[in-house]
Amino acid sequence: MSEPEIAEYQRSLAIRVSGFDAPRPVKTFEDCGFSPELMCAIAKQAYEKPTAIQCQALPIVLSGRDIIGIAKTGSGKTASFVLPLIVHIMDQPELEKEEGPIGVICAPTRELAHQIYLEMKKFAKSYGIRASAVYGGMSKLDRFKELKAGCEIVVATPGRLIDMRKMKALTMKRATYLVLDEAD
Ligand SMILES: Nc1ncnc2c1ncn2[C@@H]1O[C@H](COP(=O)(O)OP(=O)(O)OP(=O)(O)O)[C@@H](O)[C@H]1O
Ligand SMILES: [Mg+2]
Repeated sequence: MSEPEIAEYQRSLAIRVSGFDAPRPVKTFEDCGFSPELMCAIAKQAYEKPTAIQCQALPIVLSGRDIIGIAKTGSGKTASFVLPLIVHIMDQPELEKEEGPIGVICAPTRELAHQIYLEMKKFAKSYGIRASAVYGGMSKLDRFKELKAGCEIVVATPGRLIDMRKMKALTMKRATYLVLDEAD
């Protein structure tokens, strides 16, 4: 797309972008260069095309840039960070013993952490990516064992994440992808 076409496309999606040299928005999931497995998982969810925030956020995150994304409820922000996270993990060397996570997703409440965990599982499953949900009200010992066995993704509330870190259940040595959901 030419610059005027991009501006017109962004207007049609009602998105505003600020920041230096932002990557161009996509129109389809095919434009993202996802693997056949991930395309299959997306099709299984019956996602036909990316939502407005996904059109702009996916290429930004996939290019390795940081982003603050703001969009209304139910607009598909979760997949905007989950899909690139899976691509990122598959591009990393495998976790060695006592390593992990690679992706850390923080949410302010148990309920939100659990929702993200379920949404993420749908896409991580087919890759054998291990994920752990870490929040209050769950057995600390079980989580400790799960994390010690190795997890690529941790979805957590901050307090319990700090507890697990103090217990040395996980390290942040390999953590290279951080999401703060509901950051406001
Ligand atoms: N491209 C898509 N096409 C169709 N459905 C989608 C698409 N992306 C996400 N969804 C679905 O839309 C629903 C809402 O998505 P999600 O929970 O990510 O919203 P959200 O933007 O995080 O909202 P909130 O601000 O309330 O947390 C989910 O059921 C999700 O599976
Ligand atoms: Mg959300």
